[in-house]
Amino acid sequence: MSETAQLTSIKDLPSPKGKIILGNLPEFKTENKHLVLEEWAKECGDLYKISLAGKIFVVSAKPDLNAEILKLRPKEFRRFGKIDEIFTELGITGVFNAEGERWKRHRKITSEALNAQNVKSFYPTILEKTDILLSKFSTYAEAKEKVAVQSEMMAYTVDITTKIAFGYQMNSIENVADNFQEHLERIFPMINQRITAPLPLWRIVKSKESKALDHSLSEIKKLIYTFIDEAKSRLDNSESLKANPSNFLEAILVESERETFSKEEIYGNVFTMLLAGEDTTSNSISWAIYYLAQHPEIVKRIRDEAKEVYGDTDLPQEYSSFAKLKFSNAVAQEAIRIKPTTPQLYMQANEDVIVGQLSVPKATIVVLQSKIAQNSDDYFTNALTFNPDRWMRGKCPVDHKHSPKVVKAFGGGPRYCPGMNLAMHEMTVLISALCKRFDFELAVKAEDVKDKFAFTMHPDNLWVKFKIA
Ligand code: HEM
Repeated sequence: MSETAQLTSIKDLPSPKGKIILGNLPEFKTENKHLVLEEWAKECGDLYKISLAGKIFVVSAKPDLNAEILKLRPKEFRRFGKIDEIFTELGITGVFNAEGERWKRHRKITSEALNAQNVKSFYPTILEKTDILLSKFSTYAEAKEKVAVQSEMMAYTVDITTKIAFGYQMNSIENVADNFQEHLERIFPMINQRITAPLPLWRIVKSKESKALDHSLSEIKKLIYTFIDEAKSRLDNSESLKANPSNFLEAILVESERETFSKEEIYGNVFTMLLAGEDTTSNSISWAIYYLAQHPEIVKRIRDEAKEVYGDTDLPQEYSSFAKLKFSNAVAQEAIRIKPTTPQLYMQANEDVIVGQLSVPKATIVVLQSKIAQNSDDYFTNALTFNPDRWMRGKCPVDHKHSPKVVKAFGGGPRYCPGMNLAMHEMTVLISALCKRFDFELAVKAEDVKDKFAFTMHPDNLWVKFKIA
């Protein structure tokens, strides 16, 4: 049999039953698209197609196929075209929505600005904000108040990211009202709505929401432009700052000296940083807390590790401590495996291409579903059990299945998340410091905490009670 005879074409793929004309759109309109995709995979297997009002999307939960597609960027595949369309319309032209040669330029400065040396120089900010959060949680503990974890974690990552992005002291952890945060909070849900909207109605009718979005974007732009001017003049006057930039904007301006970037492009990347770094990290920490609140024995082990690494102090002050917090890091990795905040990524073929045995015509949209494999016993023994030991060298039993390669929570290939290292620092430090100071338990039933997807996936209704240990 010739090689071509073995190829699978999209028309041969199974498909969940749908309605005439609308196809699978009515079911897919739900917020929790990832759960619908998981249900359909139970019915159709790990490679199937869906029709959304006549538009065909291929859905793959095959780890090898997904890894290959991620690797084939930027040439054969790109992000789903609508992402760039919506971002560009909002005036955001940064690395996340750039493609081809333009992406290569943006990626270079972004990766450099988030490299290990710069993450090290951001470490004091992580400590500063963690300290503020610990004080706030102590107040909750003393008052025996239950904590809405998701919004607290959002405030934590917003404060870290704005400080790291351009040195802005937001202070939303301490509930200091700030218009900037309000503006930011408006952006993500609207991007999510527009990317998944079947029709671009906002281009025809300017709703109140759309007007508010425009206003927020214009305020954010004004502020970031001011920060760009100020950072440029600081850098012009300090060689030592050029060598050790104190925030992402300074780092990106230093990098951009090698190649000229317009103010619009710098703005686009700083803005991208804010969007990409906040929800993802806060959701992942929240999921970690959800599991820790049900596993006091794991909290105790994290506390023991913290005592061993940084003694009687509240925080791992020395940067070198971070590498020693192996178990706290394993907890972060396990939370990300079991509850990835980006359970699926949308890609589109730039040209006719064959991946695995699948023939993919130009412009086909492929949804890469990674959560199914990450939660499958085929790749991880007792995959739905929260077990950080599977990430600890020497602790994971040898007969256990353990396939880190299938975890694509940070994406993969040349476009994998450049903020991964920073996110792991934030998560590890916070998990360690929280467990060192507090015992905690869920204030709601575990089964009442549900997945909620809004561009990223977070735990809804997560209430936790903290007690000083
Ligand atoms: C736990 C936290 C995080 C998770 C789970 C996460 C996840 C992801 C994923 C899945 C992608 C898409 C990768 C791909 O297409 O292959 C991505 C891209 C990206 N992330 Fe993250 N991320 C996190 C934190 C951060 C942080 C803290 C930053 C920076 C402050 C950041 C900046 C970016 C950027 C700039 C991109 C676009 C890269 C490109 O298109 O080349 N992320 N992230």
